[in-house]
Amino acid sequence: MPGAIYAEGLVKTFGDVKALDGVDLDVPEGTVLGLLGPNGAGKTTTVRCLTTLLRPDRGRAQVAGLDVLKHPNEVRRSIGLSGQFAAVDEYLTGRENLQMVGQLYQMKSKAAKARAAELLEQFDLTDAADRTTKTYSGGMRRRLDLAAALVVSPPVMFMDEPTTGLDPRNRQLLWDVVKDLVSGGTTLLLTTQYLEEADHLAHDIAVVDHGKVIARGTSDQLKARTGGERVEVVVREREDIATAREVLAGFGKGETTVEEHTRKLTVPVTGGAKLLAEVIRELDVRGIEMDDIGLRRPTLDDVFLSLTGHAAEPGDGRGDDEDGTGKAKAKETAV
Ligand SMILES: Nc1ncnc2c1ncn2[C@@H]1O[C@H](COP(=O)(O)OP(=O)(O)OP(=O)(O)O)[C@@H](O)[C@H]1O
Ligand SMILES: [Mg+2]
Repeated sequence: MPGAIYAEGLVKTFGDVKALDGVDLDVPEGTVLGLLGPNGAGKTTTVRCLTTLLRPDRGRAQVAGLDVLKHPNEVRRSIGLSGQFAAVDEYLTGRENLQMVGQLYQMKSKAAKARAAELLEQFDLTDAADRTTKTYSGGMRRRLDLAAALVVSPPVMFMDEPTTGLDPRNRQLLWDVVKDLVSGGTTLLLTTQYLEEADHLAHDIAVVDHGKVIARGTSDQLKARTGGERVEVVVREREDIATAREVLAGFGKGETTVEEHTRKLTVPVTGGAKLLAEVIRELDVRGIEMDDIGLRRPTLDDVFLSLTGHAAEPGDGRGDDEDGTGKAKAKETAV
């Protein structure tokens, strides 16, 4: 039986751009799927197709047991959606925005008021509740948008980059809300550029690139697939980075990645502690001072990098900028 969210062969083209090129998904009821992928991979388009905002050119999808193409209105009543760009009415206050959503879902006025107050409290917006949202900061708007998605407790929720632009405390707050929701039986599809978030919340992860699911599994399964260990070095002096990179290349089983601003170099290796000792000796011989060096297991960031050839780049959540941002792009490494 298909899960609470099910998609088969979704295709969507915009002009020359094939945004979706046959996306398949299956999310069992009461679980969280983390949809990861570089900018422009097709995450938002997938969410829009599944939430009836966009009609796919081909393929089929079911949400909460309902066919998305045949019964869009019923599907809309069974889902909650928080989009990549906060959708709040600027001229209403935070409280009015939430009450309005309640009324759209046919809640009685008293119940809608009570629910709005509860959510404002939960998302730490009580003090700002009676100001028009025009005066809200980006993070406040984002929180209000998330609260709006939770006015009714739908069986299936979609959150597109829910914590982009939130500070660490508010991100934690949202994670707690999500965990509560899921323990209450909600099924959630979440897109994120924060791999720690996927690691933390998602039962299962699907990596999307160029409109296709290119890998699927639990975080541990994906890490195991990426394989091996990593040697991570932080050199003391920035000018030693190039030499250190040369040394690591001699020991590595793949591309060395460099984070200039933290002076950190990482390379996949096999050979464990013995190899680590050799690396340390060689760096020493070359006269490179180290602030830190160690061996570690692959993280979800390594998985993402080796699968897509991009480092995850939490942005400001604005736009499909695929390139030209001047942000460091890592080169592809072999899986
Ligand atoms: N309405 C549209 N018209 C034209 N092209 C579009 C439209 N929506 C999306 N695209 C294109 O489809 C591709 C997938 O976009 P999508 O927004 O799904 O990516 P994404 O994975 O959500 O990226 P991001 O991480 O930047 O949010 C991109 O190349 C994008 O430019
Ligand atoms: Mg998107």
